[in-house]
Amino acid sequence: MIDVAPGDFTPFLRNLRQAGYVGGNITIPHKERAFSLVDRADDAAGHIGAVNTVWLEDDALCGTNTDWTGFSDNMDACAPGWEQVETAVILGAGGAARGILYALATRGIERVRIINRTRPRAEALARDFAGLFASPIEVCEWQSLPEAFAGSGLLINTTSIWMEADGAPVPDLSPLSSRAIVSDIVYIPLQTPLLAAAQERKLTTVGGLGMLLHQAVPGFEHWFGIRPEVTEDLRNLIVRDMENHR
Ligand code: ATR
Repeated sequence: MIDVAPGDFTPFLRNLRQAGYVGGNITIPHKERAFSLVDRADDAAGHIGAVNTVWLEDDALCGTNTDWTGFSDNMDACAPGWEQVETAVILGAGGAARGILYALATRGIERVRIINRTRPRAEALARDFAGLFASPIEVCEWQSLPEAFAGSGLLINTTSIWMEADGAPVPDLSPLSSRAIVSDIVYIPLQTPLLAAAQERKLTTVGGLGMLLHQAVPGFEHWFGIRPEVTEDLRNLIVRDMENHR
């Protein structure tokens, strides 16, 4: 991993080849800037407004966003048929939520409710993605979570709200559908309080580490010409590495 200060990011990206790189993954806070700097970006990156994977093709710097495929590939692996839900609820309206909204739209989910601490951010997201869903995106309040959860078959947390041990309590999940899938994109800790609460209710849960692994697959293929497989062994290797760096 290379720490690049925001002020150094433009020259860093422009000089990628000269520095000996074939490409890379980009993370917070550079994803939006990367989108504006690449020579070619695909539709996904355009809709999401952020690039997390870059690679060189001849003289062109190409960019895409693999957060959304990372999310949907992980869901396919852990909860096959997940896209057959009618209503999905997303907690959060940051960069990760944008990628996930794109994944939901691409997989044909019709109805989405967004809840975010800062409501105008959720409203902006609802406007940006309006054309991709059959029904208008609903923006709900934290205070009315039970109504927002009512009957929903898929809940996705994209916020860091429950990352701290002494953070806010996990909301009551009982209004969700009894067959709901609960997905948390947070992977530190692997078992988040939200996932634990969902398991207590015997709901299907999907953790965030798989999304991290799956989002890296297309990048690796662009850089090295080999499409890696996300396996249990790979997952265990990363888990051990995370434990060593705690
Ligand atoms: P990312 O790219 O990972 O989505 P981000 O763009 O910083 O990161 O977004 C973080 C999300 O977590 C936002 O939806 C943020 O809410 P705000 O838009 O109100 O900032 C949400 N978030 C972070 N900490 C939170 C907290 N303590 N309570 C509720 N929401 C929180």
